[in-house]
Amino acid sequence: MIAGDVTGLRGVDLGVRDVAAQVRFYTDVWRLAVVAERNGSVYLRGSGGYCHILALHPRSEPALLCVNLAAADRNAVDRLHARVTAAGAPQVGPTAPIDGPGGGYGFVFMDPEGRSVRVITEDARHADARPLPDRPERITHLVFNTPRQEDAAAFWVRALGFHVSDRSLLTFIRCNDDHHCIAFHPGGSSTLHHIAFEMDGIDSVMRGAGRMRDAGRPIEWGPGRHGPGNNVFAYFIAPDDFVVEYTAEVEKVDRDHRVREPGAWVYPPGHSDLWGATPPPSARMKAAQEKIRFAEGLFHP
Ligand SMILES: [Fe+2]
Repeated sequence: MIAGDVTGLRGVDLGVRDVAAQVRFYTDVWRLAVVAERNGSVYLRGSGGYCHILALHPRSEPALLCVNLAAADRNAVDRLHARVTAAGAPQVGPTAPIDGPGGGYGFVFMDPEGRSVRVITEDARHADARPLPDRPERITHLVFNTPRQEDAAAFWVRALGFHVSDRSLLTFIRCNDDHHCIAFHPGGSSTLHHIAFEMDGIDSVMRGAGRMRDAGRPIEWGPGRHGPGNNVFAYFIAPDDFVVEYTAEVEKVDRDHRVREPGAWVYPPGHSDLWGATPPPSARMKAAQEKIRFAEGLFHP
């Protein structure tokens, strides 16, 4: 695997209005599993090794509270702390033990557009990690709206050692051999566009789409296959209007990967995915993709 000091996207902390209702959704329908509860917050795992990939915290308004990245080891965390500081992050917390389920060692900082990001190593991992049908393995990417997508990507490259993979309407960046784990989408302000969960193949994506439809949450865009990343996708609106994606078959890239620019993508006429079988994104999904803001201030769980 190609990875630098940051080895992967570990997950997200979300603020939600009704934790219990969200937990019912993310377990019964979305198929994550609860691993811990603490002070009203609930922590959920996928079938992969990370202790938890989604943490739900009670808040009066839905918000993205923190993006969590995995780091290689303690030396990597210390290097990243220096690098993030030198890159001009507006706020950087001290390196310290992580207080919370999974523990570990790391620090939190704020990127130039106000996103709290945590870098963690030595966190507890599950020994039974393996792909399971119908269960998300992990969060494979987050997409953020930004009025300055190239500046935003450049900061993550400079401060965290990410690489630009491709550009389309979005700018896709990676920290390992997955085509992207973060992408920046043009938008009027800094908000969350969507959260993508990796499934064990197309059948698991589509059976998940069936569960979502039965739960009153039909596909808002998809099924389709993206150009950048070549991944199969289906998008939905989760409680509190978080936009979530089931995806599979994300492209692996190596060190020789050459960045493709917006004109490189060829789709069936009138479409913006490789299959051309899906209607365009729904208007309500597009509205939801601009609603979720980042919580103000550095994240404290
Ligand atoms: Fe996506």
